[in-house]
Amino acid sequence: MKPLRHFLSMNDIEEEEARMIFKKALEWKKNRGKEFPTALQYQTWALIFKKPSTRTRLSFEVAIRELGGEALFLSSQDLQLARGEPIEDTAQVLGRMVHGLIIRTYEQKEVELFAAYGNIPVINALTDEEHPCQVLSDIFSFEEKRGSIKGKKVAFIGDGCCNVAKSWALAAEKFGFYLWIGSPRGYFSPVKSDFVQNTSSVEEAAQDAALLYTDVWISMGKEQEADKRQMEFSQYRIDRRALSVASKDALVFHCLPAYRDKEIALEVFNERKEEIYTQAENRLHVQKALLAWIVGKLNG
Ligand code: CP
Ligand code: NVA
Repeated sequence: MKPLRHFLSMNDIEEEEARMIFKKALEWKKNRGKEFPTALQYQTWALIFKKPSTRTRLSFEVAIRELGGEALFLSSQDLQLARGEPIEDTAQVLGRMVHGLIIRTYEQKEVELFAAYGNIPVINALTDEEHPCQVLSDIFSFEEKRGSIKGKKVAFIGDGCCNVAKSWALAAEKFGFYLWIGSPRGYFSPVKSDFVQNTSSVEEAAQDAALLYTDVWISMGKEQEADKRQMEFSQYRIDRRALSVASKDALVFHCLPAYRDKEIALEVFNERKEEIYTQAENRLHVQKALLAWIVGKLNG
């Protein structure tokens, strides 16, 4: 029997595997509505989300359906988990009834426990630590427009400790790009890598970058720090000043939801919304291919 695949972290995928996923994602994007893959036929996948979601939930539910499977959204508040049932028991029971699990939660340890006890593939749909599906899809979105990301400079402006930034930092060495985090000092990346640099200067991070990327200043679960963060991050945004020093053909990405005139200037968002919405759409195509890879059916 083949070992189970999980996608809990950017560390769970090799560049070569990601490239196979991107190839299939592009094919399925082009042929949507003409080609009907069946990688999840007769399968039921559960989604447990302990935090709100628009894009991740929608893209996974649609992806599962378009692969011939059924998606079962389980409200975390209605599960016995909310009354303290151990993850071990929940995971064991899910594993006897469904074929895979997609989970959005707080601690990375929780997705690891589901993977350890469920005996089914588990996908991290965002934890406090990582958002690997987002970044995998974002690398695809960059390459779709600009070719290989290898050797390029990517600037992440905002909270260098947040889940999205951490997944970007783990991806840097794997894909061979240089990530510059432009964050206040207390929010530098915890990832130590020759491919990751931290600076408190937005200009230094953005200088000659091929991609300017940002995310909210206040991630889900950090609401109690809102006032402090609004002050600390007030200069850490993608605006005309950042764009003026970036590469002439720099892309602007935002994982969304976006707060205008906070982490991204309203005028920049409005000018670049087409590339940002395409970035969001690609979550569907990439996650479809990711699901097929996870169940070992990327090639039929
Ligand atoms: N970018 C992203 O993951 O969006 P949602 O929180 O809406 O899923
Ligand atoms: N860092 C953000 C990402 C939202 C998709 C958060 O965790 O809220």
